[in-house]
Amino acid sequence: MKFAVRYYTKTGNTKKLAEAIAAAIGVEALPISEPVREPVDILLLGNSYYAFTIDPEVRSFIRSLDKTMIGKIANFGSAAMLNSTYKKVKAEAAKVGIPMVEQEFHCKGEFKGMHKGRPNEEDLKAAAEFAKGLMK
Ligand SMILES: Cc1cc2nc3c(=O)[nH]c(=O)nc-3n(C[C@H](O)[C@H](O)[C@H](O)COP(=O)(O)O)c2cc1C
Repeated sequence: MKFAVRYYTKTGNTKKLAEAIAAAIGVEALPISEPVREPVDILLLGNSYYAFTIDPEVRSFIRSLDKTMIGKIANFGSAAMLNSTYKKVKAEAAKVGIPMVEQEFHCKGEFKGMHKGRPNEEDLKAAAEFAKGLMK
C-alpha cells in the first residue's frame, strides 16, 4: 500500500498529528501546498475546524486532486469544540469522485486556553496507531 500525508494547520496542532502519523507509516508529512505527485492508495489528510468549517485552502486542495491518483482519503485532525470534519471533507471529496476511508482520527486541539497541550503524547500515539491500522 502506498500512502501520502498532507496537512493544513493554523496553529501547529495538525502538523504535530501529521508528523506522528507520517513517522508511523514511513512517509513525509507535507503541507497541502505540496501536490501529490505519485499515485497513492490512501491520502491521509489533516485538517481542522475554523469558524465552524474547514479552511477554503483545504477545499481547494481537495478539488485539485486527481481521482486517478488517489485511491481513498483518510481524514485526521483536531478541534476545540466540534467533533470531526469528516462530513465536510467527504462532501468535497465526493465532488472529485474520491471515496473516504470510513475510519478517521480525531482528538481535542488546544485553542485559546482550552485543552492545553492537546494534541498530547497520548493523542500522538493514538494517531500513529490509527495510521498503522490503515496498513493492514
Ligand atoms: C481561527 C480559528 C477558528 C477556530 N474555530 C473553531 C470552531 O469553529 N470550532 C472548533 O471546534 N474549533 C475551532 N478552532 C480550534 C481549532 O480547530 C483547534 O485549535 C485545532 O486544533 C487547530 O488546529 P491547527 O493548530 O492545526 O490549526 C479554531 C481555531 C482557530 C485558530
